[in-house]
Amino acid sequence: MPRGQRERGRAPQGAPAPRSPRAESVRRIATERAPERGSLLEILHAVMAEHGWVADEDVLQVADVLNLSVAEVHGVVSFYHDFRRTPPPAHEVAVCRAEACQAVGAAALYAAAQQRFGKRVDVGVREIFCFGNCALGPTASLDGVLRGRVTEADLAHAEQEWSR
Ligand code: FES
Repeated sequence: MPRGQRERGRAPQGAPAPRSPRAESVRRIATERAPERGSLLEILHAVMAEHGWVADEDVLQVADVLNLSVAEVHGVVSFYHDFRRTPPPAHEVAVCRAEACQAVGAAALYAAAQQRFGKRVDVGVREIFCFGNCALGPTASLDGVLRGRVTEADLAHAEQEWSR
C-alpha cells in the first residue's frame, strides 16, 4: 500500500494527542500558577482542591507545564501525605492524635474508628495532628465537619447516616 494511503485519516506524527477534560483542567491550573514562587506546591494543592486527588496523569501534565521531570513532581507528591494518590472515599473520619486529644482518649477513639470503618472502602480513617480545637478533645472531623468531645457513639451515628 502506498505510504500516502496508509496514513490518510491519521494524525500526523508529532501532533499533540487530544487531552482529557481532567488533563486540560490540570494544565490550566498549572499554567495559571506557574509564574508564582513555589508554584509546584500551590499547583498540587489546587489540583487537590479541584479534583480531590493527584492522579498519575496530573503529575505528567504538571511536569510538562513547569518543565520539570516527572520524577521531581512525583517526589513532591509522594513526600507530602496531604496529596492523595487515589480517589477519596465517599466519607472520611479524621481523628486528632495530638497531645491534648491523646490525653482525653483520642487513641481509643482512633482505634474504634479503624475497627468500625476499616473494612469499608467508602470510608477513610486518618490521623490529624491538631485541629486547633484542643479544649474540646477528643476532636474529629466527620465528613469535613469538625466535632469536639467525640465518642464511639458519634461514630456509630455517622455509620448509620452513611449507610442510608
Ligand atoms: S490536640 Fe486535638 S485539636 Fe488540638
